[in-house]
Amino acid sequence: MPLSVVILAAGQGKRMKSDLPKVLQPLAGRPLLKHVIDTARELEATDVHVVYGHGGERVREMLGRDNVAWALQAEQLGTGHAVQQAMPGVPDDHLVLVLYGDVPLVQSSTLRRLLDAAATGDALAILSVRMRDPTGYGRIVRDRAGNVARIVEHKDANQKERAIDEVNTGLMAASARRLREWLGRLRNDNAQGEYYLTDVVVMAARAGLKVNAVLAEREDEVLGVNDKVQLAEVEAVYRRRRARELMLQGVTLVDPDRFDARGPVHVGHDVYIDVNVLLEGTVRIGNRVRIGPNVVVRNCDIGDDVEILPNCVFDGAKIGARAIVGPFARLRPDAVLGDEVHVGNFVEIKKAELKRGAKANHLTYLGDATIGARVNVGAGTITCNYDGANKWHTEIGEGAFIGSGTMLVAPVTVGPEATIGAGSTITRDAPDGKLTLERSKQTTVDGWQRPVKKQPKG
Ligand code: UD1
Ligand code: MG
Repeated sequence: MPLSVVILAAGQGKRMKSDLPKVLQPLAGRPLLKHVIDTARELEATDVHVVYGHGGERVREMLGRDNVAWALQAEQLGTGHAVQQAMPGVPDDHLVLVLYGDVPLVQSSTLRRLLDAAATGDALAILSVRMRDPTGYGRIVRDRAGNVARIVEHKDANQKERAIDEVNTGLMAASARRLREWLGRLRNDNAQGEYYLTDVVVMAARAGLKVNAVLAEREDEVLGVNDKVQLAEVEAVYRRRRARELMLQGVTLVDPDRFDARGPVHVGHDVYIDVNVLLEGTVRIGNRVRIGPNVVVRNCDIGDDVEILPNCVFDGAKIGARAIVGPFARLRPDAVLGDEVHVGNFVEIKKAELKRGAKANHLTYLGDATIGARVNVGAGTITCNYDGANKWHTEIGEGAFIGSGTMLVAPVTVGPEATIGAGSTITRDAPDGKLTLERSKQTTVDGWQRPVKKQPKG
């Protein structure tokens, strides 16, 4: 059966105490709702509907690029009413899966089990979980034969019902045709005066339909986020999940609790990652790479046998095999390091290529530049790439030697095997194989005296 996913995201999230709508709060750097949409995509849904309300325009703005159908719920009259807002866009012959925008960690494998339970024999399937402390949740009430009879909300439940530890996660699946009919019959005569989605359970049971409760394996997969404490909890669950995945792929994590992978990571074998490393965006890491402590890597491609020393920040860089980078190096977008390149402390590289074996080991800025193979860039060298209005290119031929403290005023070219004397400001092209330098004459002033400190008065 084709699948329509309906994501409920109209709640305000007052307890977040934030101007940002709840479903836009970040988990691993992405809005909560984005995690749920991405999970829906893994299920290959025909269409994904998001029911929005509070902060609606901001939600649509931030997630507008995702190809979803938006359904406005102007007033929050309950979860049943919320699903109803999306139903006009859902064809009768679809299976409907209801997800919550604030339950971000549910996995597609669990949802597949839920869908299977709904597809077999035209049943209603609900995702339940056992909770150590079920307070606040809807309880799953079963009849003597053990079949699900109804769900009772905490606020509507009696003592006996409150003792039930199997709770409703809120996620459910049913045929669109059935669901539409049940939703049309919902009433709001309950403790909260809301149209409860959960009341479809008793309707299904009364109609003689099977209600399948699929038990989620772990409580932490169905955690809901209502405040910043729970937001940090789901972040921790996510962190551990990602760390575990990578360790099972053979990565050594010195401390999985001090490691964050927030986007897709592709790793080779025998990768070693020290503490406080953060990987963001898409990161590719080759074989036998070692990453030292306190390193942030975003959207990078790291070759085999690379060694990253502590305290580096990389964004949008490509690093060739056997390169050694850091400590304290910064690679900005379009930094391309060839094989065996060395980049040392306090070196910043932006939109510049360093070819095989080139070295820039200390205190240097290389931007908008091509640095040939085996070039040695001395300490304190700067490519002066910006004239206040435009950016200009610096070209350094292979085997050149740039003395310490050189200012390369772009556009400028240094030929292959050229040598630049330390302290030069190079404004014109320097020829191949020769020594070029620019220095004012050194003078010594006779009779000059150091200033002395004035004595305080009185
Ligand atoms: C709901 C379930 C409860 C379950 C619990 C799990 C009902 C009646 N109860 O209760 O059985 O144990 O979730 O967390 O369904 N929303 C809207 N529009 C509305 C109301 C809610 O979009 O009018 C959205 C919220 O943004 C949220 C989700 O639906 O993402 C759940 O709403 P919430 O008010 O938290 O439901 P609970 O009372 O917690
Ligand atoms: Mg809730």
